[in-house]
Amino acid sequence: MATILPPTPQNIARAAETLRAGGLVAMPTETVYGLAADATQPAAVARVFAAKGRPSTHPLIVHLSDLDQVHTWAINLSNVAQAFMRAFWPGPLTVIVRRHPNTLTAVTGGLDTVALRVPKHPVALGLIRALGTGVAAPSANRFGGVSPTTAAHVAQSLGDAVDLILDGGPCDVGVESTIVDVSQVDPEAGVAAVLRPGGVSLAELSRVAGQPVFERRSETVRAPGQLESHYAPEAPVRLVPPRELVSEAATLAAQGLRVAVLTEDTQADWPPGVVAIALPSDPARAAQRLYAALREVDERGCHVALTTLPLPEGLGLAVADRLRKAAGPRP
Ligand code: TXA
Ligand code: MG
Repeated sequence: MATILPPTPQNIARAAETLRAGGLVAMPTETVYGLAADATQPAAVARVFAAKGRPSTHPLIVHLSDLDQVHTWAINLSNVAQAFMRAFWPGPLTVIVRRHPNTLTAVTGGLDTVALRVPKHPVALGLIRALGTGVAAPSANRFGGVSPTTAAHVAQSLGDAVDLILDGGPCDVGVESTIVDVSQVDPEAGVAAVLRPGGVSLAELSRVAGQPVFERRSETVRAPGQLESHYAPEAPVRLVPPRELVSEAATLAAQGLRVAVLTEDTQADWPPGVVAIALPSDPARAAQRLYAALREVDERGCHVALTTLPLPEGLGLAVADRLRKAAGPRP
């Protein structure tokens, strides 16, 4: 197992040394834990893809410690791109912009754009500053699996594939950053489009853009978050209308299955054979708890998980998106 270390200044310095030597470090961010590599080292970036089992065509986010570093990685920033960066960084927003010619194609998956973000977490910022350049970091889980929101989750998912894990405690937001694409040069396509809902809402983006910003579902699969099945536990996940939750759970349990129900109402009188796992209905608390709840489905030996979708507002949009993908068709 990888070593889990408290994020003391010494350990952050040691983690930066590990990155400089081409190693991999799991770092806490405010969204989920990231699997960090020096974004300027092709071999280190290749190790990230290998550790995750992720296809090389799925690009990584470059994490920066400061807005001033953007120009090393990107060119032709639109006004909206700059406004988003100023308004939401540090924070849970990833901005897709035109890549600088020096930005590694291994990082961008061969695209002419790059994903950038300044995370709002003292440990992540300390590590990026100590390295002194961009840190490429996808979520620190195996490809397609549930993202980690604690150091223990990272160790469970990646084991020895990561050199060391900085333990920053549980993540504040709990789901990944919002990804907004502001790379379009064609104004017909709109100034901005959200590729993945997350910690920054459509309403907040629209306010800063001065016009409505919508979600865009891409035709070509270039983001793992856009694959049909993602963020998924081993057990199949089924989305059920609220009124059918109890009867559906009872039907499956009567067939001899151990049924997980992700619900706010863990105290209710659930039928025998049903395991009630806490998932608050408040969207922000649901986001914080979501991935731990999905992991619990497998940990408690459940054969199937049932849940209902939250209202698609604020963080509820991100939670609904992740639950839909957890319930998506498996390969
Ligand atoms: O909150 C987060 O964003 C976390 C933490 C660690 O920062 N990171 C994260 O990384 O979720 P990852 O790799 O699991 O998801 C990044 C997503 C992927 O779906 C990737 O395909 C997409 O961003 N992406 C990266 N570069 C892109 C680009 N140039 N165009 C479109 N999508 C891109
Ligand atoms: Mg991920």
